[in-house]
Amino acid sequence: MKKLAAEKAAEYIEDGMVLGLGTGTTLEYLIPKIGKLVAEGMDIVGIPTSRRTKNLAEEYNIPLSTLTEHPEVDLTIDGADEVDPSLNLIKGGGGALTKEKIVASSSKREIIIVDETKLVQHLGMSFPLPVEVIPFGWYPTKLAIEKALPCTAELRRENDNPYTSDNMNYLLDCEFKVIDDPREVDTQLRSIPGVVETGLFIDLADMVIVGTREGIKTLER
Ligand code: A5P
Repeated sequence: MKKLAAEKAAEYIEDGMVLGLGTGTTLEYLIPKIGKLVAEGMDIVGIPTSRRTKNLAEEYNIPLSTLTEHPEVDLTIDGADEVDPSLNLIKGGGGALTKEKIVASSSKREIIIVDETKLVQHLGMSFPLPVEVIPFGWYPTKLAIEKALPCTAELRRENDNPYTSDNMNYLLDCEFKVIDDPREVDTQLRSIPGVVETGLFIDLADMVIVGTREGIKTLER
């Protein structure tokens, strides 16, 4: 289902585009396709949203650049962890939320590719909200989050050590029963000292391509 969605998204890539390259397993189906388009002569420059995507794009000889050289991105294709009916998202399962949000905000168009398991009625129902925080004082930041909002914030770990993002920060996975007002939760979280960014992507996705057992479904905002 992820592969189906990735194949469909490749149809929106055009010659001459500055292309934001998201992060995650769904994107890993798309990168080889972009590599093939480049090999066939398409002129594309990619802006990767993580080290993981950068390495993969380099393997497929996709020319890469930065937001300093290309501050305006034509199209970004990225995955998501949850998608609600207004096309608001939770992202950051792969830890790349901050760069993903910067690239999404710099993009004229954001296409999200997911399988049908990612569609939810309300954000927070099936996936904890990742929040990137500065390592210094991460614990008081966690306590402040739990005091301000109805959630428990768990430090993400990798092999017993704190997981470290590409930006050398930590991640708190915040378990809500449900996020009723994503915009308000995002604003409250970002007002807490130590919070760098949240995985709530509000009004950023223009289109969501969903791979389902019955084929492709396209949702537009
Ligand atoms: C990366 O930080 C995330 O935002 C991913 O885009 C998200 O976790 C989707 O991942 P999969 O494509 O692996 O499901």
